[in-house]
Amino acid sequence: MSSTATATATPPLDQRDRPLAHLATLADEVFERTSPYEGFGFRNHCRRLHRFTTMLMQAKGLSFDIDLAYLVAMVHDLGLVSEQDTGENYLQRSRALFHRETAGLELGGTDPSLVDQCLLFNHRLLPVPNLSPEAECFRRAVIIEHSRGLKRWGLERGPVKQVFEDLPRGNFDRVLLDFTWRTLRREPTTLVNGIFF
Ligand SMILES: [Fe+2]
Repeated sequence: MSSTATATATPPLDQRDRPLAHLATLADEVFERTSPYEGFGFRNHCRRLHRFTTMLMQAKGLSFDIDLAYLVAMVHDLGLVSEQDTGENYLQRSRALFHRETAGLELGGTDPSLVDQCLLFNHRLLPVPNLSPEAECFRRAVIIEHSRGLKRWGLERGPVKQVFEDLPRGNFDRVLLDFTWRTLRREPTTLVNGIFF
């Protein structure tokens, strides 16, 4: 490879400048503190969502920070299990949790309303009018995840399959069953409006 090509190639993720790396650390800490589940199924679900989201964003040339995306992915379902955040549905509670945990923190100048879109609409099966491209990547990533890679939005089969292999499903089906019961008890209308995990 020529020196010119080296200089212009996209570096691996772990070599990039990561000004918001503290958000990834926070994400893992918040997740461990909030999730009530044994095993790694729920954690890997969130991490797969992050991988798919960043793959979609990279394909579209979007510049959303990778560590901020990780924090959004790790908290996107925590509204289902958080006992200290309020909101009409779990999506709103996930959003409340995000803002409670990041109060006073630097988000790299990202518009908070953009994060809100990512957290409030990621479960929608149908396109949402006027949704930002970044939030649309989260929505599409959820569909890749729940179709187990059958729907890929233009991503190649191999890299998507690799994500599922890197981050195995574990006990996630048991977690989903618990999500279902929690949702039926607290907010059955959420089931009408979209998938709930
Ligand atoms: Fe989810």
